[in-house]
Amino acid sequence: MKINKVCVLGGSGFVGSHLVSKLYERGYSVSVPYRNINRAKHLTVLPTVSLVEADIHDPDALKKLFRGVDAVINLVGILHEGKRGAFQRAHVELPRKVVEACRATGVKRLLHMSALGGDPDGLSRYQRSKGEGEALVRAAHGEDLAVTVFRPSVIFGPEDRFLNLFARLLFWMPIFPLGSPNAKFQPVYVGDVAQAYVASLNNPATFGQRYELCGPTVYTLQELVEFVARVKGLKRTVMPLSDEMSSLQAMVLGLMPVKMLTHDNYLTLKTDAVCGCPFPEVFGIRPAALEAEAPLYLAGIQSPRFKEFIDEAKR
Ligand SMILES: NC(=O)c1ccc[n+]([C@@H]2O[C@H](COP(=O)([O-])OP(=O)(O)OC[C@H]3O[C@@H](n4cnc5c(N)ncnc54)[C@H](OP(=O)(O)O)[C@@H]3O)[C@@H](O)[C@H]2O)c1
Repeated sequence: MKINKVCVLGGSGFVGSHLVSKLYERGYSVSVPYRNINRAKHLTVLPTVSLVEADIHDPDALKKLFRGVDAVINLVGILHEGKRGAFQRAHVELPRKVVEACRATGVKRLLHMSALGGDPDGLSRYQRSKGEGEALVRAAHGEDLAVTVFRPSVIFGPEDRFLNLFARLLFWMPIFPLGSPNAKFQPVYVGDVAQAYVASLNNPATFGQRYELCGPTVYTLQELVEFVARVKGLKRTVMPLSDEMSSLQAMVLGLMPVKMLTHDNYLTLKTDAVCGCPFPEVFGIRPAALEAEAPLYLAGIQSPRFKEFIDEAKR
């Protein structure tokens, strides 16, 4: 199987943008369907990347997108459910349609983004939908479709919505009431996640496999928030909330029109997002340390690795 043309669903997002840049850098021809050009236009600087307006939930539109493509990467995912049923639509129904469209158009390679904690019996709707989607994609693996699934912990990097969100909140709040302070994460660098995808595309050893992706260190949420405050030079008091208060805080924040945290997120945080094994050797990566990468962009300077992609793309 020789892969040249790749269609990336969710290519306009945080992980997608880094991955599309890396695929471009490696000489792949990449198509990225989008639903809102304002969220995808930063990719127009990459000359061999084609942006296609499409409703990816329409099976015919998917088939049209996949015709002539060698591999599909599905990164579509949401953290908050605006409307009830949105998790199911994005994490279960879409992957099912993606598998069907791959089969109908003869696409033989599918890389799927799940998440640590994804589990059909998980505590939160997010976890259950991610787990269901992952299970159906894995069940589709066979001779006609080689599937690889990735389960990262929280992903950090320029434009992430995790450490950057805390940086913004901490700026305004001298006393920071933190829900779920003991939730554990093993943050993985977005460049390493993108590299794992690229290394997996053409590697038969990864076909039919599922990989957990984590960085080198486990942190509690409180340690991460205090790290961000230190990097930003902010003297802040982080006030850890009890479990009852964390639940209440998430319930109240979940009622706000702009969603930062919901009760479903609170339930997700009850499962530690940590790996039971080192970064998969097959990808040949030593995962970057949070302390080495995060200060570069939290302080307002882009990571040199990301800057390289962009500078090269502009040339
Ligand atoms: N970031 C993390 O820490 C993390 C950790 C574990 C797993 N993941 C998984 O990694 C994937 C990418 O995450 P990310 O951080 O890059 O998220 P992101 O920045 O929000 O990007 C999500 C992408 O999916 C698209 N999308 C979302 N809902 C859609 C829908 N209903 N229909 C069509 N397109 C839709 C978005 O399109 P628009 O640009 O139009 O919104 C965007 O391109 C997700 O599956 C996520 O669950 C992320």
